Amino acid sequence: MHIKIVRKDFLSVPCELLVVYLFQGVTKLHGAPSAVDKVLGDAISKLIKQDAFEGTLGQVLVFPTFGMIKAKRVAVIGLGDKRRFNADAIRRVGGCIVKLASQHKVSSVVTILYGDEVGRIDHRTSVQALTEGVILSAYRFHSYHGTLRKKETPPTELKLFTICETSARAMKIAEDGIMRGRALATATCFARDLVNTPSADMMPTQLVEEAKKLTGRGITVKVMDRKEMKLRGMHATLAVARGSDCPPFGVHLVYKPRGVVSRRAQGGIKKKVVIVGKAVTFDSGGLNIKHGDSMSTMKIDMAGAATVLGLFKALAEIPLNIEVHGIFLAVENMPSGSAYRPGDVVKAMDGTTIEILNTDAEGRVTLVDAIAYAKTLKPDIIIDLATLTGACIVALGDDIAGLLTNDHKLGQRLLDAAKDAGEPLWELPLYEPYMELIKSKIADIKNVGSRSSGVITAALFLKPFVGDTPWAHIDIAGPSYVEHETRPDLPYGASGYGVRLLARFLQKL
Ligand code: BES
Ligand code: MG
Ligand code: ZN
Repeated sequence: MHIKIVRKDFLSVPCELLVVYLFQGVTKLHGAPSAVDKVLGDAISKLIKQDAFEGTLGQVLVFPTFGMIKAKRVAVIGLGDKRRFNADAIRRVGGCIVKLASQHKVSSVVTILYGDEVGRIDHRTSVQALTEGVILSAYRFHSYHGTLRKKETPPTELKLFTICETSARAMKIAEDGIMRGRALATATCFARDLVNTPSADMMPTQLVEEAKKLTGRGITVKVMDRKEMKLRGMHATLAVARGSDCPPFGVHLVYKPRGVVSRRAQGGIKKKVVIVGKAVTFDSGGLNIKHGDSMSTMKIDMAGAATVLGLFKALAEIPLNIEVHGIFLAVENMPSGSAYRPGDVVKAMDGTTIEILNTDAEGRVTLVDAIAYAKTLKPDIIIDLATLTGACIVALGDDIAGLLTNDHKLGQRLLDAAKDAGEPLWELPLYEPYMELIKSKIADIKNVGSRSSGVITAALFLKPFVGDTPWAHIDIAGPSYVEHETRPDLPYGASGYGVRLLARFLQKL
């Protein structure tokens, strides 16, 4: 889809659909809606008077124009309550536009720039959010549509999205907003593709290939094979990988601000942040095998790694003055004659011994090696993202990720970034006394606690490995996959959760 901004009066641009906006409860029209109202013989104000349009968020009115203006149709979209208007409302509006375009089989849409005059949202933020909303909503995963699906008429796709603005200054800012929105939404869609791809085609080997493709534009990619992982002492991860026919790989991506490689030493680069992602390309549960239903979506168990890769894709487009490391240890959790067993004791990279009581609690077993490796880089911050526990879904539902952290300030920054990005995140306590639940009688620690405290004990399992480094754990088991659609910018399948949240967090650091 082509998204562009032009310096023109919106009424003068020919298109199939012109979109203008109205806040809830507005009865006297101003600006663009008023101009459209006039040329359409007061159609909008008449409908408002008849209480046919209130302007609730996402409410839509569509008129044919019968050639009275250059646009074939006009849509008025409700922006909801002015006091609650934010970037996320704009993303939803972007979703409405895509939906409208498909309903009316429209391929070109023209709209106006808004921001500044409508509360605290500036032009850049508003255009960025609109761009994100439109691209994220237009996403569909169709790589696996075969001959049967190809015979269906394809949904009409929005091809050209034009934003009109007459001020040169606002235009320049908006152009930057489009660039950022496009980079972030495209990176999110990239992460979605990786997760949506069936596990048979997204084994550790393929995930590594995807990582390698990101090399360049400030990014380097280092790959560790089984031999190197063994040399480094990542025995916990290697134990999880043993049941699979596909060999494990470790991936270490580094983003360094371009042209300022040694700036950290001079105080130029503020921070070194490591992002760790869970990368279980398929989680069968291992010998503690999952039952059919709960196994059917387990291709998503590498969503943490997909978010890391999505973030790096975005970093290539939107430069940052921060050194960012991305780490994931890619494995497949399978049952077989060589699989790790309940009762086995495995040793993590830092020497900690782990009693395996359930081979399905494999994520934490691989993450601790990744975190121990991250520690060797002496980072200022470690953040891990993992589809770690079903218990997190029970606690927070399908849409909200769980945040557990040893650093209040870091937690608050992540919550703020999540709010800005429109990716719901909620903090849960790292309640120390539950540490008792994962003490082992025969090793240092065991890999399962009690059923009822599942999210917290999983996070507490990771905690000793980070030491005193500020650290946040984000459990994305719920929001990484959409099974029941609730909003247009989150279509069925992988969501790419976290790419925009992390990009926002790093940008504001
Ligand atoms: N990958 C799963 C967690 C998961 C569940 C992710 C549902 C996405 C959707 C994880 O490896 C797992 O199996 N966790 C177990 C832990 C238990 C055995 C302590 C769980 O949550 O049941
Ligand atoms: Mg599991
Ligand atoms: Zn898992």
